[in-house]
Amino acid sequence: MTFSQIIGFLALAGAALAQTASQFCDSSSGICFQGYTDPTMNMTVGFVFPPVTTPPSDEYIVQIVAPASYGWTGVSAGGTMANSLLFTLWPYNDQIILGTRWTSDYVLPDPYTGPKITLLPDSTANSTHIKATFRCQNCTVWQDGSMGSGDLTAFQLIAYVASYTTKVADPSDVDSSMQEHDAFNFFGLDLSTVHDDNYSSYISGGAAPSAPAPTSSSPTSTSAPPSTTSSASGASQTAFGQCGGTGWTGPITCASGYTCTKLNDYYSQCTP
Ligand code: HEM
Repeated sequence: MTFSQIIGFLALAGAALAQTASQFCDSSSGICFQGYTDPTMNMTVGFVFPPVTTPPSDEYIVQIVAPASYGWTGVSAGGTMANSLLFTLWPYNDQIILGTRWTSDYVLPDPYTGPKITLLPDSTANSTHIKATFRCQNCTVWQDGSMGSGDLTAFQLIAYVASYTTKVADPSDVDSSMQEHDAFNFFGLDLSTVHDDNYSSYISGGAAPSAPAPTSSSPTSTSAPPSTTSSASGASQTAFGQCGGTGWTGPITCASGYTCTKLNDYYSQCTP
């Protein structure tokens, strides 16, 4: 490793320690993800995988939620810009333009063929937010990289980027060029927690009957946060779980030693 690679590695490792995925369930689809809501970048990113099998499945579902005002946003499945499977998305006439890219350097990433991405029905692009929920097949291995370095129960750093003000050159073209993002950040995803027995019902368009009561952490509504009396459950939330936010009907108290901390109007989290 060169000195700059070591510094880069330490930066990534530090970021990974700082933010860890926790479970959230989307109210409209019933799909439960392991992911993170970034209170500064106002983005939610989540992943859910099929049950562990041999040979391993090559797919997963991703959810990305961001303000409609952003020019474009992106997610790196490998946690870095270079040598990773990159997803780019932006709204165009109430549609979601979602693509896959790859690059070996800090330059405009090229369109990347191989992954098959399918937007699921609860994806929306409205005046306030873009929410892309998509199935990604042939997506656990890519050029010069793979999820969990090939172990789908290992740790994976996930990165996300946003361009707040600059739109892509041609929003109607999924392969459009774009300028460098304004911000990026990371969270750690423990792949041993992302495998969900309900996965097959998720890709067929609905939640399984056994899925947890619909809850929401997706910023799709601008209504006032519910009053505390709307809690449907007397149980307290586990560490790093959701404990409040617009539309949230789950636990609003936290396990002993954790405090319910408001991250934004849509998401409060049990933090130490
Ligand atoms: C013209 C397009 C782009 C340019 C010129 C560009 C350039 C850069 C540069 C210079 C950095 C380093 C910034 C720093 O260390 O402060 C960076 C970081 C990053 N970029 Fe991009 N980028 C572009 C598009 C994208 C896209 C489309 C994605 C993902 C969808 C992406 C994902 C990332 C990530 C995750 C990082 C942080 C991790 C790392 O340094 O590897 N970039 N980019």
